Amino acid sequence: MNIFDETRKHYNAAGVHPTTDPDNPRSQFAVERYENYLPKLIKPGMRALDLGCNAGRYTFAMEDMGAIATGIDFAEIPLRHAKEVARKRKSRCQFDIGNIAALPYKENSFDLALLPQNNGYLSYQTLENLTLQLKEILSDNGIFVVIIHDELVKRAGEETLPERYDVQTGLMGGNRTIPDKGVYAAPWYFWTVAFARYIIEKHLPLEQVEQIQENRFMLVFRNKKR
Ligand SMILES: C[S@@+](CC[C@H](N)C(=O)[O-])C[C@H]1O[C@@H](n2cnc3c(N)ncnc32)[C@H](O)[C@@H]1O
Repeated sequence: MNIFDETRKHYNAAGVHPTTDPDNPRSQFAVERYENYLPKLIKPGMRALDLGCNAGRYTFAMEDMGAIATGIDFAEIPLRHAKEVARKRKSRCQFDIGNIAALPYKENSFDLALLPQNNGYLSYQTLENLTLQLKEILSDNGIFVVIIHDELVKRAGEETLPERYDVQTGLMGGNRTIPDKGVYAAPWYFWTVAFARYIIEKHLPLEQVEQIQENRFMLVFRNKKR
């Protein structure tokens, strides 16, 4: 199974939903969770990159906070909607098609990169590879903001591991039914906060950790080129 193909198929089939559409107030709950955190990290004119932007709700939110914002995603359908919303709003947000595993950006292109709970789609190697890419793509003193759930905190209650769990890679199997479309594979890697921190900190120093909700953490890493 190629997780990138499966994830892209799933998000193209899911399309745009009222709870993810930046044009719909019902999608804003996800952005509002960070209203005490994200605006403090964004300075006017900062170049911000939204990794796995889908229909762009965080990209637009970062623009509203003063950033020059770009979103990247490999699912064409939600990205097309993001571009349409940008056109209607006369927003300066840019939306690019691409894979987080191989970002199409030059050195020193951004001052902030946000990974909002999309780490689960990335293998352990891919998150490390992303960190190495960001070391180049982020400016000196640029920040990598990772919002993450911890699979062990999630399971401290009654949740158990899914039927399919590959101990060699941490890949868990799952399916999601999309109404009127069918059943799609929804693979997801088993991440803990400590492990994500360990991998990213090998290359970028950790500066800040915030517990936003019981199982929602924000880690901020700073790029130090010199
Ligand atoms: C849960 S959605 C989150 C979207 C967005 N952050 C939001 O809250 O509206 C995850 C998104 O990440 C994208 N994605 C996952 N893996 C990716 C990859 N390797 N490269 C690019 N996009 C990816 C998916 O296509 C999907 O649109």
